[in-house]
Amino acid sequence: MPNKRPEPIGTLFPLGGPVPPDLIVGRRGEIEELGSRLREGMSTMLAGERRTGKTTVCAAVCDQLRSEGALVIEIDVPERPDSRALLQLIIDACSRASLVNAGRAALRFARPTIEKLLSEGGVPLDLSTIGRDPKELPARAVLSLPAELARHSGKRVLLFLDELQRVVDYADGEAVLCDLIDLYGASSNTIVLVDGSNERALNGMFGAPVHFGKLVDRIELGALIPLSAWREPLTQRFACAGIELVESAREELLEWSKGRPYATMAAARYTALSAQRTDSGAADDFEVRMGIDEAERRLRDDGA
Ligand SMILES: Nc1ncnc2c1ncn2[C@@H]1O[C@H](COP(=O)(O)OP(=O)(O)O)[C@@H](O)[C@H]1O
Ligand SMILES: [Mg+2]
Repeated sequence: MPNKRPEPIGTLFPLGGPVPPDLIVGRRGEIEELGSRLREGMSTMLAGERRTGKTTVCAAVCDQLRSEGALVIEIDVPERPDSRALLQLIIDACSRASLVNAGRAALRFARPTIEKLLSEGGVPLDLSTIGRDPKELPARAVLSLPAELARHSGKRVLLFLDELQRVVDYADGEAVLCDLIDLYGASSNTIVLVDGSNERALNGMFGAPVHFGKLVDRIELGALIPLSAWREPLTQRFACAGIELVESAREELLEWSKGRPYATMAAARYTALSAQRTDSGAADDFEVRMGIDEAERRLRDDGA
């Protein structure tokens, strides 16, 4: 690829947040496994440590199912005192999904459909109009929207709740979790995918009184991606940045990171940056050591 314009390091080495599908390293088996469970109508929780790539894997699976015709409702569960913001996100995402499903031709009718569904359940489009007490929130009606969407569209719906364990700290959290179990425990055309990383909160969900295992099977995402999966993509991405990654340097990086996804990506990003600064066109052992130092600082700073 002579003379090809180098791609930005920030794009080639994404750090923090889900990795776009074409930049995912490894995890093919995990994506396949999770996808086939969901296709078989089994609601699933992907559990694992922070920053191991849970959201990355779940989002990749959501993309696959979407391209197979499922309606996907993706929700990043917010940290709040009660479920109000979460419910609003579900209303908004269901509105959008029903619009997409209706397609261009039916655009004019789609909005009234979701509004009708909501008003039948006694739910306003904007929950801020409801009083302060979380008990007054129409949680169950909102949580049933994905199921209603499946019923009305005749399509399979996938509800992805990212970091669901945050609900445990809501004032009305227990009721929300129990509603999810009631609504979706026996459902096969609406499937629930959740991920979560806080061991204490997750264990709370699976114990009494919630028993979240009635809704989801729990599978663990390994904390490491094998070194063999990293080698080629790393070399290739450095090349896309216009930098030659020297083999011994690459091995030093991997020996340090052990294949931990976030640490590997951080060290690679900062190695590329320092190679770019020295302007030699190559990342050698020196640049890798700089990269690892900076990655260590970063891990320490946002470690807690
Ligand atoms: N399969 C992967 N390939 C490349 N980088 C990854 C992968 N999984 C995780 N990462 C790195 O870890 C970061 C966090 O990924 P994310 O999916 O948000 O993890 P989690 O949801 O477990 O906290 C990403 O921004 C990326 O730097
Ligand atoms: Mg995540």
